[in-house]
Formats: sequence, structure tokens, C-alpha cells
Amino acid sequence: MASKPFAIRWGILATGGIAQTFTKDILTNPTTRDVHDVQHIVVAAASSSSAARASEFLKDVQAPGTPKAYGSYKELVNDPDVDIIYVATPHSHHFQNAMLALEAGKHVLCEKALTVNAAQARKLVETAQAKNLFFMEAVWTRYFPLSIKIRETIISGGIGKVHRVFSDLSFGQSREDGSLGWPDSHRMVNLDLAGGALLDLGIYSLTWVFQTLYHCQPKPREAPKVVAAINKYPRTGADEMTSIILQFEKNQSMGIATTNIRVSTQPEEADSGISGPAVRIQGTKGEIQVFGPIFRPTRYRVIKVGAKKDDVEEVEFPIPKDKERPGRAGEEAQGWGHGMFWEADEAARCIRDGKLESETLSWEESIVIMETMDETRQQGGLTYPELIETAEYDPKSPLNGKA
Ligand SMILES: NC(=O)c1ccc[n+]([C@@H]2O[C@H](COP(=O)([O-])OP(=O)(O)OC[C@H]3O[C@@H](n4cnc5c(N)ncnc54)[C@H](OP(=O)(O)O)[C@@H]3O)[C@@H](O)[C@H]2O)c1
Repeated sequence: MASKPFAIRWGILATGGIAQTFTKDILTNPTTRDVHDVQHIVVAAASSSSAARASEFLKDVQAPGTPKAYGSYKELVNDPDVDIIYVATPHSHHFQNAMLALEAGKHVLCEKALTVNAAQARKLVETAQAKNLFFMEAVWTRYFPLSIKIRETIISGGIGKVHRVFSDLSFGQSREDGSLGWPDSHRMVNLDLAGGALLDLGIYSLTWVFQTLYHCQPKPREAPKVVAAINKYPRTGADEMTSIILQFEKNQSMGIATTNIRVSTQPEEADSGISGPAVRIQGTKGEIQVFGPIFRPTRYRVIKVGAKKDDVEEVEFPIPKDKERPGRAGEEAQGWGHGMFWEADEAARCIRDGKLESETLSWEESIVIMETMDETRQQGGLTYPELIETAEYDPKSPLNGKA
């Protein structure tokens, strides 16, 4: 008889957009994605505004059983029934919120961008290590079967030696009046919330450069030298156009990672692919082209050097749906399933196996990525307020909400 799946009990910290998407995903039946060894239980959620908001959230995601609704993050992290906290606040809050959870003895899966700077990421890693707790940045794309297959292709030499990667994630939000269409207080453009293209979207452009040119290197890996430029949003000073060249000199490769909130990677209305690939991974024997959106890609193509039109290999990786789950309009009507469950499965397996970090996105790699963003910001003259840049943990920080 097959053994029972390992069950992990989640506490959801914050109740915004991504908290909802993630929580629905972990409530899908794992067998719909052919996973039989782990399962996820939502035991509690917390909102910094009120317990009523947390309760409404749990109702919206149709969490089964009797999950607890808290009106503060502190109550959530101190719940003895919670194994792991999913941190889903704006990036500005990640460091203080993740520290709050680790200090309370909880494992942590923390949304991207992991922190505001590398010093905060190092402090979190030191704390997780000292307390023997699992800690991971929630870059869900890394755990897609599509990403795993592409990394395997690169490592096995499927497109020869990879010398260059182009990667872009941009959403055109430009309005006639010169604004970006969000109120200045919105987390996408508000410096108090670490707003801007780099930390929100650029992390994915960097993810594709890192998972191809850095992660696929033999250890010890060469960190990149960085040349970067930033254009700022005149209304708030957040970065609205950021371009980064990553040079891996010893490894004879370069990545070009770009992000922009004036123009789009895919200006077309739907994901028709007419605007072409968003990532190009170029090797001596061929090229892999990944079609966007690059945070949630479902298809790529392989073009071998000298290929004729009909020789192009098209590869599709649709996101599995749980048809038993009632969906709303659009894609959800086919059932729940967004692709965030794979990172949750990884977290559960690591905890089951006593691992503190994931090999797919190690602590060391997350820190090198944060260092790349630090260097980019330094060259572009972009800083955030001290309250969110500090690497001093303060349980009483306003970022941790009320007691
Ligand atoms: N992986 C992905 O695909 C993905 C997609 C989108 C966003 N994200 C990441 O997830 C994080 C949250 O993004 P989101 O789109 O979910 O944002 P959101 O919809 O604005 O939700 C953020 C939540 O954080 C809490 N919060 C606490 N203090 C806040 C403050 N001062 N201002 C605003 N919210 C505050 C609020 O929940 P309570 O009131 O309940 O405490 C709020 O609902 C960001 O770091 C973002 O980069 C990831």
C-alpha cells in the first residue's frame, strides 16, 4: 500500500492578490498534477487590518475545515498548529515579516523579491540557519516542469555552450497624462513599499538569466559583474525602466535582463505569442526561445543551428487544473491551478526531508541575485527609505503591524 502523503500546515500572512492565488493553488488536489507524496493544509490566515478581513479571505479561497482567522501577523506566527508561514506582503515588508516568523520558530516561504537588499537576505539566512528552519524565496517559475526541462537541456549540452541570454519582463502602463495609471500610493510605484519595476518584475528577467547562466554552472559558481541603468518615474522616484548587463567573464557568457513599465514585452491583447519570445537562450548549437509571460511560461521552442522552418521543436507545458474546484470566469473556469503549487510542493518536501533550503533556489543564489539588484540600484542611484532598507530586525516595526 502507498504511504500517506506528508501533510504540511500553512499559515498565510496577508490577504492580498497573490495570497489568494497561492492559497487556492495549494488547496487544489495534488493528484491533479500527479503529486502523491505531499499535501497542503491551510490552518490559518492573518490580515494586518482585521480578523474579519482574514475570515473573508478564508471564505473566498474556500479553505476546508475550521482554519483560524487572525487580525495580526503576530498572532499567526505564534499559532502552534502552523508549520510554515507564506509571506505575501509587499517587498518592503518581507524582511521584518519573515524575521517575525523565523523568530517564532516557523519555517518560511517568502514572496519575491525576497527582500529589499542583500544585507536583509543574509540576515534572514543566518537566522534560519541558527534556528534550524526552512527558508525559501517564492520564485515559483523555478519549479515549473518547463524550467526544470530547460535547465536539464542546457546542462546536458542540448544547445551547446550557452554564451548569451536575453530576458525581458515589461508591462506597458503609460497613460496620456504621463502617469503610469496607478495612484502614487500604489505598491508598484510607491518607494515606501519598495515599488518600481526592478523588484517586482525585474526579478523574473533576472531569474531567467540566473537559472540559465548561473545555476547551470558547475560549483563554485561565478557571480556576475553588473552594468546597469535606471530611468525613474518622475512622480515618485521609483524605477520605471531598468536594464542590466550581467557579465560572467570566466564563463564566457553574458545576460541582458530588462524590465519596463512604460512598454510591454507582449503588447498584444492576449497571449497569442505574435510579439515573439521574451527569453532567448543562445548556445553554440542552437537557441531556446521562451514565450511569455516569463513568470508563468507554458511554451518554448528549440531552434538548432542551421534549422529549416519545419525543424523547429515546439514544447508545451500546460498548467494542470483541478476540475473539481469551481472556477470563476476566464481561465479559472477550467478549474483552479495557476502553477504556484509546485513551489509549495518543494517547500513541503524539503521540510519532510529535514532540508533548510531548496537546491533549486539556494540561499546563496538568492543572495547573489539580491546583490545584483543592490548593484543595479547603486549604479542607477535608487534608494528606499531607511525603515525598509534596514537589516535590523524590530518586532515592533510598523511593518509588522499591531501586536
Ligand atoms: N509570485 C507572483 O507571481 C507574484 C505576483 C504578484 C505579487 N507577488 C509578490 O507578492 C507580494 C504582494 O503582492 P500583491 O500583488 O499580493 O499585493 P497586494 O494585493 O497589494 O497585497 C498585499 C497585502 O499585504 C498586506 N499589507 C500589509 N501592509 C501593507 C501596506 N502598507 N500596503 C499594502 N499592503 C499591505 C495587505 O494584506 P492585509 O491587510 O491582509 O495584511 C495587502 O492585502 C509582493 O512582494 C509581490 O512582489 C508575487
